[in-house]
Amino acid sequence: MLKGKDFALVIALGVLAFLAIASPKKVLIAEGFAISREELDHGYLIYENYCASCHQDGGKETPQVGDRQAWRARIRQGMPTLVRHAVNGFRGEVGLMPPKGGHEALTSEEVTRATAWMVQQSTAKGGG
Ligand code: HEC
Repeated sequence: MLKGKDFALVIALGVLAFLAIASPKKVLIAEGFAISREELDHGYLIYENYCASCHQDGGKETPQVGDRQAWRARIRQGMPTLVRHAVNGFRGEVGLMPPKGGHEALTSEEVTRATAWMVQQSTAKGGG
């Protein structure tokens, strides 16, 4: 029979084990880059407000989110390069990515989260 104290310990361990399983894990976005579910959700909001005008409703000269073909080689550069291009701006072969999408007030962290969301959407199932 378990004594009261032992019983409490068993319950406490059970709760901890449950929390370990149920707590939001980090989402792996690309090799060596993972962020929390909350950060990713925040990234989606930033994307919707500041990036979708080009990356969702833009023409062929902008890599569209979800178009795996358009993102494969970009993602291979690694997150640090993608984030640097998104924050500092970048002229590639298809067009001009303005610094922070032209929204100077955004923090680098916000741009990083938006980039993470875009990358995640462009590697997930579906898309091109
Ligand atoms: C005015 C249009 C426009 C807006 C707004 C915009 N982008 Fe872009 N973005 C581009 C274009 C065009 C490219 C492709 C440049 C190329 O490869 O020639 C690009 C490319 C990128 C890339 C790939 C960089 C690489 O190395 O291949 C990332 C990441 C990115 N944008 C992130 C963002 C984020 C995050 C936002 C919002 C904060 C954003 N963009 C807003 C036009 C835009």
